[in-house]
Amino acid sequence: MNVYDAIISRRSIRRFHQKPVKLELLKKCVNAGRLAPSAANLQQLEYIIVNDKTLCAHLFEALHWAAYIQPKWIPKETERPTAYIVVLVKDTQNPYYERDVGFATENIVLTAEGEGLGSCILCNIERVKIQELFNIPLELAVDSVIALGYKAETPVVEDLKDSVKYWRDDHEILHVPKRKLDDIIHLNKYA
Ligand SMILES: Cc1cc2nc3c(=O)[nH]c(=O)nc-3n(C[C@H](O)[C@H](O)[C@H](O)COP(=O)(O)O)c2cc1C
Repeated sequence: MNVYDAIISRRSIRRFHQKPVKLELLKKCVNAGRLAPSAANLQQLEYIIVNDKTLCAHLFEALHWAAYIQPKWIPKETERPTAYIVVLVKDTQNPYYERDVGFATENIVLTAEGEGLGSCILCNIERVKIQELFNIPLELAVDSVIALGYKAETPVVEDLKDSVKYWRDDHEILHVPKRKLDDIIHLNKYA
């Protein structure tokens, strides 16, 4: 899959088949994060790969899903991610650290897409719980969690009309509104 195809086909996936993901593939995803651009090449990020069933179950309890979907929705037990990558930051005083995380996590989710995996970046997470669960020293900050696994849903993109809120239709298909290309391109001048 070329990069553009991966960008176009990637959607946040919140329902997964229960087939485990090989550790090699998870390491490949982290390697893609490792090689991402970072401000001043400081490389402040570290990662915890989680593929142990019991730990995955505990981590799941610290995550919040799809806030726009109401009433509150979480993946069923049979649809949960089968692996996670926890993204850690060494120095949150660095003014560029959030950009570094953005580049690294995008590399990770695009690599996952290229390998046929679904992913979802989560920032609505209970950081203290996660810190305790994995014995993470306080010098490191828990930034985000990337949920991974084999896709059990196929969200669709639609042109954004009046709301940015993603929604599920009667067939449980997730619709993701995106701004139209013509609405965001300015050619040679703004207006
Ligand atoms: C920084 C960031 C934080 C996010 N946090 C969550 C989250 O906590 N829970 C969740 O279900 N999705 C989360 N998402 C996924 C977004 O909801 C999703 O990217 C957005 O709806 C667009 O859908 P798409 O990824 O399919 O293009 C997050 C995405 C980003 C980039």
